[in-house]
Amino acid sequence: MLLIRPLVSSDQAFLWDALHVALWDPPPAPLRPRELLQDPHVRIYAEDWGRVGDLGLVAVPDGEERPVGACWMRRLQGGVGFGYVDDATPQLGIAVLPTFQGRGLGRRLMAEALSAAWAEGIRQVALTVHPANPARRLYEHFGFRTVEFRRTFHLMLASAPSVGGAGLGEGSPNADPTRPGLEVRRGPLPAL
Ligand SMILES: CC(C)(COP(=O)(O)OP(=O)(O)OC[C@H]1O[C@@H](n2cnc3c(N)ncnc32)[C@H](O)[C@@H]1OP(=O)(O)O)[C@@H](O)C(=O)NCCC(=O)NCCS
Repeated sequence: MLLIRPLVSSDQAFLWDALHVALWDPPPAPLRPRELLQDPHVRIYAEDWGRVGDLGLVAVPDGEERPVGACWMRRLQGGVGFGYVDDATPQLGIAVLPTFQGRGLGRRLMAEALSAAWAEGIRQVALTVHPANPARRLYEHFGFRTVEFRRTFHLMLASAPSVGGAGLGEGSPNADPTRPGLEVRRGPLPAL
């Protein structure tokens, strides 16, 4: 059984771990030095989690005490953030701890996180991704499309199904939330 639950402020330590993993470089590069998380351009995606408008989910597999993956979105204001589009468009991050990758957790997290975003009335979500990152396939599956290049990174946008242009894939509110082995605690959305 897999628990998907809101990312809350008490998950802050895990969110730093997730952001560290999300700073992806092509193999065989190791993870970046952890100190980079304190860089003003990086820490903005995780610091002080739980602000109004923050929206995120974590995955906790059966038998694990701590989350092993997260998909989170934050609206940054006034041009802040590498994936900034406008003040209303959250920037999305996703990461699964290395030993848990490739088991479908990222796909499930993204499906639920996008469903939650659309249900909240968010009209579009932005992200940036390294051109060589295989995560691009995951993003395309959920309706993200490259709209611009920032340095060599893809700036990708997905729109809410009702807005049009977005994929009607698993991120759709119409997607079946009752996949086998998935326990979804919707609860209050991350009171963030
Ligand atoms: C990207 C990430 C969150 C995906 O989570 P995951 O649990 O490993 O992925 P899943 O098992 O759910 O697979 C979903 C899809 O991801 C894509 N994918 C992501 N990483 C991949 C990899 N290393 N190799 C192959 N496919 C990969 C595939 O399209 C896959 O779909 P498929 O199995 O139908 O081909 C996870 O691999 C990760 O944390 N990677 C490092 C951090 C990162 O790159 N974050 C994104 C930064 S923009």
